[in-house]
Amino acid sequence: MRTLTGIQPSGALHLGNYFGAIKQMLDLQQNDELFLFIPNLHALTTLKDAKTLRENTIDAAATLLSLGIDPDKTTFWVQSDVKEVLELYWILSAYTPMGLLERAHGYKDKVAKGIAPNHALFSYPVLMAADILLYSANRVPVGKDQIQHVEITRDIAIKFNNDHGDIFTLPEAKTDENLATVPGLDGAKMSKSYGNTIDIFLSEKELKNRVGKIVTDSTPVEEPKDPYTCNVFALAKLFLDKNAQNELANRYQKGGEGHGHFKAYLKELIWDYFAPHREKKAYYDAHHGEIIDILREGAYKAREIALPMIDKIRQSVGIYR
Ligand code: ADP
Ligand code: TRP
Repeated sequence: MRTLTGIQPSGALHLGNYFGAIKQMLDLQQNDELFLFIPNLHALTTLKDAKTLRENTIDAAATLLSLGIDPDKTTFWVQSDVKEVLELYWILSAYTPMGLLERAHGYKDKVAKGIAPNHALFSYPVLMAADILLYSANRVPVGKDQIQHVEITRDIAIKFNNDHGDIFTLPEAKTDENLATVPGLDGAKMSKSYGNTIDIFLSEKELKNRVGKIVTDSTPVEEPKDPYTCNVFALAKLFLDKNAQNELANRYQKGGEGHGHFKAYLKELIWDYFAPHREKKAYYDAHHGEIIDILREGAYKAREIALPMIDKIRQSVGIYR
């Protein structure tokens, strides 16, 4: 079973990304074959500043490595380091009916948000199909907004296989229904696009400041409070086992403590949980050369799968070699 996924290098990763995606990857890499890459070519559709894209790419890699992605277990690379994906993107384009892309919500949503509708944004799902099919992935863990892209991948693969035999493995999107949506500072889904995130790696001062901004109700200190409608409690829960969750709920229900106490407690939970990883992140931030070596080695491993595959594809469509 090969699992493959990509995390966009579109800015600092936050608690929503950690509890909604990265934690599952860390579990998966223990028992499964995990292929994880940074889709910097996809990021180009929306991010037009060269310095930022380059820095974000390295920072995403540093973050994932610091959190425990192990390059000895997981094939971990940057998308643009395996050029064959772009060749496959073009070949698949010839098997992609316009209507399939015209129906894509991802494109429509981005245009509705005011992003310039360029061709790469429109053909984004074809490059994503190339990412998945080049490595014969069986399973693709994604957020709900990406399910349609995996379905498009399947449609393209079926069309190609109909003409050329069983070249491509049909992937399944994997979304975890049990995963709670991590709330942001305002209680809405934590997301970079809403500006309501708590990033994984903040300085202690910044962390205190962000946690301080979590919206709470105005129940007076001495009165009992409802933990189950409180954003601070919802975030604290992510770091606590059942017993500790009950203890905290009791403190809410007893009264006598204000939201300031609970926020201070949450800040400590976040700070302590990521402490060992923060040290690693500081190390990687000071050793970019090491990150680049790891990514290069990962691309080398990824190409060992990609090269025979692209050869097979070229032969089936008649690209002369
Ligand atoms: P953002 O909304 O900040 O742009 P992405 O869409 O890049 O985040 O998400 C990357 C991964 O993290 C996806 O798998 C997504 O489902 C997960 N994720 C993002 N935000 C949350 C959240 N608030 N709760 C749970 N999972 C999340
Ligand atoms: N489109 C995905 C996202 O925005 C990132 C991505 C690119 C991806 N290629 C992929 C995810 C292939 C899974 C498989 O989150």
